[in-house]
Amino acid sequence: HEYDLLVVGSANADLVIGLERRPAAGETVLGSDLVIHPGGKGANQAAAAARLGARTTLLARVGDDAYGRMLAEAQRDAGAALAGLLVGPTDTPGTVGKEGIKEPGEGGATGGAEGKGAPTGVALITVDAAGDNSIVVSPGANARLSPDDVAAARALFEAAAVVSLQLEIPLETVAAAARAAAEHDARLVLNPSPPARLPEDVLALCDPLVLNEHEARLLLDTGRSLGDDPREWATALLGLGPRSVVITLGAEGALVAGPGVGDGPTDGIGMVRVPSPRVRAVDTTGAGDAFTGALGWRLGRGDGLEQAVRYAVRVGAFAVTRAGAQESYPGAAEIEAERGEQESAQ
Ligand code: RIB
Ligand code: NA
Repeated sequence: HEYDLLVVGSANADLVIGLERRPAAGETVLGSDLVIHPGGKGANQAAAAARLGARTTLLARVGDDAYGRMLAEAQRDAGAALAGLLVGPTDTPGTVGKEGIKEPGEGGATGGAEGKGAPTGVALITVDAAGDNSIVVSPGANARLSPDDVAAARALFEAAAVVSLQLEIPLETVAAAARAAAEHDARLVLNPSPPARLPEDVLALCDPLVLNEHEARLLLDTGRSLGDDPREWATALLGLGPRSVVITLGAEGALVAGPGVGDGPTDGIGMVRVPSPRVRAVDTTGAGDAFTGALGWRLGRGDGLEQAVRYAVRVGAFAVTRAGAQESYPGAAEIEAERGEQESAQ
């Protein structure tokens, strides 16, 4: 495979304000200076994997504007290929050269009578004193990533060992990408965030479905209460049809459930709890995306699911120790150094 990982998803400019506590409806509070970071769940996953050394590319749509160029620059800095990063309303996959980032008005797909089209997606993010965030996303160009774009990106799917999806792009595009992955025998990783109901055939392709507690509860909204045991959520989630499930548990690490996991019967479903290294949380924004990007890469390299999750948990923990999403992501050497420290502390 030319790519360990193809991420199909969103790219956003993250507009971040730190504050002591979030305002209630009708209330005004003062926060920190505004900081603008490259973000978006899709772009974050691709950047995380590329920083770790993965051969990665991102199929996404940005506007023909300054935020779009910031996001393209961030992908390039992380080491991701730009063949699938579509600029403006009419660009198609492959028209952006692997090295080239088009300038507005350069003609070609982004110039001409169609105009600039939708702006780059924006996420308005507040980060509180505990490092917890809340996010409002304006999808902009992400909402224009279409099943036709997926069809036109055939070559990227053919070239990828793993395809990773999230839900900040239209659901029909997610479904088209999941099916394209299956057609090309690529393994599918899917994070249902923000949560939405997925077609059954798409759920059945997920290997794994990756989600946090909040997303798990929303996906399992069946009227019955599930209790506090993540193992019960995993069992219920497997009932929705995915081949395997990974539930991220923040500081508590992750729960992996799937065929051949842990000491379970080799042909049946096993479950394993993977602990997280202890870290001081500065900013959790995009830590889940770093986890999922790392997981997709390790699976693309041929790791087993449990082994891949053990690595991804360390990457996600590292990402919470620094501000921002993509800018907080570690390189492989930092993960190795951190492992050394953990081991010598034991
Ligand atoms: O998961 C974090 C991301 O969610 C942010 O980067 C923001 O852009 C939103 O997509
Ligand atoms: Na971070």
